[in-house]
Amino acid sequence: MCGIVGYIGNRNAYPIIIKGLQRLEYRGYDSAGVALYDDGNINVSRTPGKVDDLRAIAASEMTLDGTLGIGHTRWATHGEPNKRNAHPHLSNSGDLVIIHNGIIENYESIKKELIQRGYVFHSDTDTEVLVNLIEEVKKKENVKLGKAVQIALNQVIGAYAIAVFDRTKPDEIVVAKLGSPLAIGIGEDEFFIASDASPFIEYTNNAVYLEDEEMAIIRRGKEIKLRKIKDDRVAYPMVQELQLNLEAIEKNGFEHFMLKEIYEQPHAIRDTFRGRLRADQGLVKMAGVDQHLERFRNANRIIIVACGTSWHAGLVAEYIFEDLARIPVEVEYASEFRYRNPVITDKDVVIAISQSGETADTLAAIKLAKSHGAFVFGVCNVVGSSIARETDAGAYTHAGPEIGVASTKAFTTQITVLTLLALKLAKEAGTISESHFRNMLTEIEAIPGKVERVLESNPEVEHIARAYKDSTNCLYLGRGYNFPVALEGALKLKEISYIHAEGYPAAEMKHGPIALIDEHMPVFVIATRKGHYEKVVSNIQEIKSRKGKIIAVVTEGDEQVRELADHVVEIPETSECLSPLLTTIPLQLLSYHIAVMRGCNVDQPRNLAKSVTVE
Ligand code: AGP
Repeated sequence: MCGIVGYIGNRNAYPIIIKGLQRLEYRGYDSAGVALYDDGNINVSRTPGKVDDLRAIAASEMTLDGTLGIGHTRWATHGEPNKRNAHPHLSNSGDLVIIHNGIIENYESIKKELIQRGYVFHSDTDTEVLVNLIEEVKKKENVKLGKAVQIALNQVIGAYAIAVFDRTKPDEIVVAKLGSPLAIGIGEDEFFIASDASPFIEYTNNAVYLEDEEMAIIRRGKEIKLRKIKDDRVAYPMVQELQLNLEAIEKNGFEHFMLKEIYEQPHAIRDTFRGRLRADQGLVKMAGVDQHLERFRNANRIIIVACGTSWHAGLVAEYIFEDLARIPVEVEYASEFRYRNPVITDKDVVIAISQSGETADTLAAIKLAKSHGAFVFGVCNVVGSSIARETDAGAYTHAGPEIGVASTKAFTTQITVLTLLALKLAKEAGTISESHFRNMLTEIEAIPGKVERVLESNPEVEHIARAYKDSTNCLYLGRGYNFPVALEGALKLKEISYIHAEGYPAAEMKHGPIALIDEHMPVFVIATRKGHYEKVVSNIQEIKSRKGKIIAVVTEGDEQVRELADHVVEIPETSECLSPLLTTIPLQLLSYHIAVMRGCNVDQPRNLAKSVTVE
């Protein structure tokens, strides 16, 4: 869960690396560092904090020249996020330098052996152990860097994307991957290395994504050489044309990525259903499903595995699948599923949901399900990500890059894909009438326009945010399809504003949380007209009689809740199962404004990273 960047070519490496690291800060931002080769030396600068902190000190610590370099932005796993633990790490001789994203699980035993052989360690990291292991192998076996990396990696257990170079061979970088992503951008006589393609998008449209257990030897001005780490077989680079554009990874006038991404939702939802939905012909086309229809048809049940916001999208999907397609569904935290010896059979269909496609627990859950013969279908946003590759089939959400750590457009596009899938399966199974099916398709097509209307309430939501920005606790309530939205609303507030918040099914309130309600407790209630409306109104009355503050998301024209609530935000009328696509928007905006008003770092909240590639 770190970002890595490297460059070898004819340009000055430093600005490319720094800008690249800034684009990868969504992966971690505890500490940052850079190493440049210049005139026989490796110059290194490292600091706790963000890439901006690194930029502020690097010039005073070293010369910024050099056409070969590597950089790192870290989310700490081993050792505190201080200067000594920041990457890059040098080997004992000072000849080798490495950056690493991942974890070396057996680093302690390797470290012990290296200490016995006289190695000295200056950090608490597993990465420093790895670079010294490579150095030891290189010396002992008298081999070149590439071979030494390969032998060393065969001795380690864990996950990695690494880039390493040798001061005495400054025309070469060696990279390798297992479990963590690594892309190589191919320019003219120059190569870029990064955790994803965003650091090099303005330089080249061609990239090679390393597969797991592959390494590459990259020589200045030559072709890259790919090998399998295990058995040294030659692999052939598959050059892919990148679809990414610069605009998608910049803020485009928005103050934060999160706000930009909230506003991108009409477009992202439309992109997600475009080409898949034909309301005029009453058709849903999903290639990944069409090719495996038999597996879905024969499924005894669907198990959904995911984490965080993606898990909330999975909960919404549970309601839709059971409601429309009448297939039993279980929704599991991937982190629990992978360790609890679950019953999985070859009649199960497992759906793994992940924005990043790199979440370690979700990936492990997929591997477990596959080992029991289940068919695994992925719903990912990042094209070519580990989960997208590991699953048997899948459907991408076309949300575009999501950079803010708080997921917003990933959530709504995941629900969009899962709704299409549920409709398709319902049609197949004959559990939905033709008219209901067609109405749903027409209604989905109308969703982007309705999201735009909800976004118009932003000034109102900002006004509400001001009233509750100093709260210490908040409750979020919803029923049915909007219970997961309550959970998601609470998660958004927690992660970016550090206010304690709980999401509950509204009816559960009286089984405990009602004890918390007093005049200081804001309660955000989703009270749309089609979702058990009268029951939710009763819950609102219960809150009101205990003096709780009520902020309700209601359907346009609602008068009953308006009378009871302290504040309301309206959403346009839609079918109940699509309502999460609208009700979630004001809650996203509310969290955003509260976080901004509290002076929090919205896009990079403390202790978090965008993709959680560790357990
Ligand atoms: C969402 O706002 C969170 N940052 C987090 O819960 C996230 O959804 C979770 O880590 C799963 O990530 P994924 O979708 O990339 O697998």
